[in-house]
Amino acid sequence: RTRGMTVAAFGRRKGGSPLVCLTAYTTPMARLLDPHCDMLLVGDSLGMVIYGLPSTVPVTLEMMIAHGAAVVRGAASALVVVDMPFGSYQESPAQAFRNAARLMAETGCAAVKLEGGAVMAETIAFLVTRGVPVLAHIGLQPQSVNTYGGYGARGKVEDEAERILADARAVAEAGAFAVVVEGVVEPLAQRITDAVPIPTIGIGASAACDGQILVSDDAFGIFADFTPRFVKRFADLASVIDAAAKAYAEEVRARRFPGKEHVYQPAAAPAAPQGG
Ligand code: KIV
Ligand code: NA
Repeated sequence: RTRGMTVAAFGRRKGGSPLVCLTAYTTPMARLLDPHCDMLLVGDSLGMVIYGLPSTVPVTLEMMIAHGAAVVRGAASALVVVDMPFGSYQESPAQAFRNAARLMAETGCAAVKLEGGAVMAETIAFLVTRGVPVLAHIGLQPQSVNTYGGYGARGKVEDEAERILADARAVAEAGAFAVVVEGVVEPLAQRITDAVPIPTIGIGASAACDGQILVSDDAFGIFADFTPRFVKRFADLASVIDAAAKAYAEEVRARRFPGKEHVYQPAAAPAAPQGG
């Protein structure tokens, strides 16, 4: 199928008008978001916002395949990228390729995303040279919450900032077509964006980046268990849904719903035979 946005065209937007990206997990949301977005990311954030898991760590390849395929079916022009879940790529470049190939073949997505900087450079190069476009993800890496110990901002001290800048250079050098930069202080986001030739997609990384991404359930006010500072509420869908459920419950209890217009009626009696 042909798509409006390609990996190559996405990469050429470096330094241009900001790239608009959101997460999506289902076909109807993909349809709604597609006209407004350059990229739809099927993020492993679905573990938390769709499945109620405590982190992204338990998310499986099967979950990503099911939701990736659903989003591809709903997207007409945005680039669809699917997250590689924890445990599906860290072991070796060969393991990463096997699972990335499944994600691409079984969903129809254009590219995969994986977390990690310099440590993942070899894997990124392995995938890219074998036909798998890779979106890198540096700075705050939610799949590493158990080793890092939290979701706080990264790059506040200079030696950590230097390491993250080196990560950005390493993933760009390895062939990533763009890089998500999550939860870093603004001066570092600016340094990274200036240093690499690929678009930087920020989340909690200031307007210095070449594009922005948010978890749509956060941005639209559906998921409220944990809202980091960098989330802006563009809608309050939770209160819209709460009001709709309340109205439905009231009408059912009062037998005002279903009304006449919602009810099937038996076929009209057949017309009497015409006499000769
Ligand atoms: O899983 C996700 O939604 C992500 C984005 C927030 C970048 O990785
Ligand atoms: Na993710």
